[in-house]
Amino acid sequence: MELETPILEANALYHIYESKAEDGNVVALRGLHCTVRKGEAVAVVGPSGSGKSTLLKCLGGLMKPTSGFVALSGHNMTRLTGGELVKLRQKTVSFIFQEGNLLPNLSALDNVAQPLRHQGVNRRLAIKKAQKMLDELAVGHRAKALPAMLSGGEQQRVAIARALITDPVLILADEPTGALDPITSIQVLELFEELHSKKNVAFLIVTHSRDVAEFADRVLELREGRFVAQRGSDVNLNDLTEGKREIFMDELGTLNLPPDVVVTMGGSGSYRVAELEDGKLTLANVAESTSKIGVLKLVETCPACKFIYQSNEELECPECGSSRPKVSN
Ligand SMILES: Nc1ncnc2c1ncn2[C@@H]1O[C@H](COP(=O)(O)OP(=O)(O)OP(=O)(O)O)[C@@H](O)[C@H]1O
Ligand SMILES: [Mg+2]
Repeated sequence: MELETPILEANALYHIYESKAEDGNVVALRGLHCTVRKGEAVAVVGPSGSGKSTLLKCLGGLMKPTSGFVALSGHNMTRLTGGELVKLRQKTVSFIFQEGNLLPNLSALDNVAQPLRHQGVNRRLAIKKAQKMLDELAVGHRAKALPAMLSGGEQQRVAIARALITDPVLILADEPTGALDPITSIQVLELFEELHSKKNVAFLIVTHSRDVAEFADRVLELREGRFVAQRGSDVNLNDLTEGKREIFMDELGTLNLPPDVVVTMGGSGSYRVAELEDGKLTLANVAESTSKIGVLKLVETCPACKFIYQSNEELECPECGSSRPKVSN
């Protein structure tokens, strides 16, 4: 079976911000790979400064990576001329950033209509569609306002309307609900869900929000310019120095253990807290639970880049370098 061309594919992506300041150059992306299939929703999480916004700009063709390649709908973006790139972006991808999405001199309505106008749609039709989109996002009554007259949440909803008006097949969003109140965030997320399920729109969303991450089909975790983990299972051990391994605990207290650690500990099952001190937790496997441990089996497809493993000898993905997780049967 021929695999469908991914909507987005990045290989060995590096980005270096050059600086003459004394802190020197910043390596924001370090040889990163990622693939987003058509209609797939992927969330990217990671600490501040880990390269999330840089990644999004490189993936969307707004910034040229220092090296590596990005393909949008199968077109290698680094090979396109400026004009071709703009055309490809216009018909494929929309961006929603943390801020600065709107043109300050245009009304909310004109901001939303503008991407259609750039596609050659006549003004009347563009304005009509834009008003409908603003209504859907519950900001229709602010259509005449300039961005500066809108609240942060209203501006973000206008920005989302502007992103959706062209029916993109991929939406790249950087903290799209960051500035919104909880109710508006839910509305935006519902709209994303609808686009995702009914129109097969693909998403790559940078987020700190648990709800947004829940909406995604996969969650990739970025750390210092590389993906180090995928929700719960896939940790690239090469990124972690021997003896200095770290395990993240999220704000709800959930621990994600790398697969080899789980195997060494004795697999899934019941653990007794043997020791608990400030900053230290020792777990002991409860012996009778061992019967509950399923047989762990190496996955057949790399969860990070979808590479199909050929044998059971490969413990690391030859495509993206992620470790090969084990799952229970
Ligand atoms: N224009 C720039 N010039 C120099 N360094 C930059 C520039 N933009 C970002 N960086 C650096 O690159 C690294 C990655 O930045 P980036 O904005 O991609 O992080 P981020 O994960 O989006 O962070 P946040 O969660 O705070 O938005 C950081 O160390 C940052 O200081
Ligand atoms: Mg950012």
